[in-house]
Amino acid sequence: MSLSSRWSRGAELLGCEHAILGGAMSWVSERHLVAALSDAGAFGVIAASSMPPELLEKEIIETKKLTQKPFGVNLILMHPQLAELVAVCARLKVSHVVLAGGIPSAATVKSLKDYGAKVLCFAPSAIIARKLVRLGTDALIIEGAEAGGHIGPVSTSVLAQEILPQMRDVPVFVAGGIGRGEVIAAYLDMGAAGVQLGTRFVCASESIAHENFKQAFIRAASRDAQISVQADPDFPVIPVRALANRASDDFTRFQHEVIGKFRRGEMEKKEAQLAIEHFWAGALRLAVIDGDVDRGSVMAGQSVGLVERVQPVKEIIAELIAQAEAYYAGRSAA
Ligand SMILES: Cc1cc2nc3c(=O)[nH]c(=O)nc-3n(C[C@H](O)[C@H](O)[C@H](O)COP(=O)(O)O)c2cc1C
Repeated sequence: MSLSSRWSRGAELLGCEHAILGGAMSWVSERHLVAALSDAGAFGVIAASSMPPELLEKEIIETKKLTQKPFGVNLILMHPQLAELVAVCARLKVSHVVLAGGIPSAATVKSLKDYGAKVLCFAPSAIIARKLVRLGTDALIIEGAEAGGHIGPVSTSVLAQEILPQMRDVPVFVAGGIGRGEVIAAYLDMGAAGVQLGTRFVCASESIAHENFKQAFIRAASRDAQISVQADPDFPVIPVRALANRASDDFTRFQHEVIGKFRRGEMEKKEAQLAIEHFWAGALRLAVIDGDVDRGSVMAGQSVGLVERVQPVKEIIAELIAQAEAYYAGRSAA
C-alpha cells in the first residue's frame, strides 16, 4: 500500500494532499509559515494563542491572500474571549479548528460544527478520546511528552499504543517527537491517519522566527529540550519543554526565592503562585521575535536534535515523504 493511501483518511479530513498538520506554534505559526505548509500540500494551522479577536481576524484574512489551499486555526480553550474567537472563525468560514489546552465544552464544539467547521481536539488518554468522540469531534490529536511547548506526562509511543488500536471512530493524528519520515510510516501502520509536527518546521525558510531562535535549534541536541522544573510540590508548574538556557535556570532559582518568602511568612500563597505563573509572561515572544534566546523561552521538542539547517517547507515535506516511502520499500533514506 502506498503512503498516499495509508494516510488518505487524514488527508481527506484536512482536504490536503499529505496528512501532515503543521502544529500551531505561538508567534511562529502565522500567515507565512501557515501558507507555505498548505501550499506544500500539508496543512498549516494559525496559532491564535492569546491574540485578541481583531488580530486573529486580520491573520486569517492575510493568510487567505497568501494561499488558496485550506488551513486551520488553533484556539486555546482558556482564552478569555474564546466565544469571540469562535465567531471570527465562523464569519471567515475557517474550515478546520483545533481546540487546545483542555477538554472543550459541548457548546464550543457545537458552535463550530454549526457553521460547518471540522473540529480537532487533543486526547491525552483513551478515556478522554472516547469522551471527545461523543462530543462530536471530527478528529483527534495525540501528543506525547517529547513535543515542544506545553506537554502532558505520557510519551508519544505509549499514547499511540493506548489509543491507536482501539480508536477507529475518527481519524487520529500523532504528534510529539516526529523528526523523520520513517516514524511517520510506523505510526500510520499502527492506525494513525496522519501526523502533526511543530519543532521540525521552526527552521523553515518561511518561518518568521528570529535567526537566533533558528540557530539555537540547529545547534541543539535532543537532550537540550528539557521539561520545566517544578521546585516544590505545593506550587504546581505547568510542564513546558524548551531548550535549557539562562532563563530556565533563573526560573528554578526564582521559584526557590518566592517559595522561601512564602515559608517565612513574607508572602501569601496565592501571590507566590501567581508570581511563579507570571515568570514566563512574554518570554516566548522575546525569544521567537526579538531573538533573545538566553532570557526568552525557546520552546522546542526533543526532535530538535534532528533539525540540521534552514530549509524551505517544500523541501522538509519532500524529505519526510521520501523517508516514509523508503521505509515502506525496505530501503534506507538520506
Ligand atoms: C515554539 C512552540 C510553540 C507552540 N505553541 C503551541 C500553541 O500555541 N498551541 C498548541 O496547541 N500547541 C503549541 N505547540 C505544540 C505544537 O503545536 C505541536 O503539537 C508540537 O510541536 C508537536 O511536537 P514536536 O515539537 O515534537 O514536533 C508549540 C510548540 C512549539 C515548539
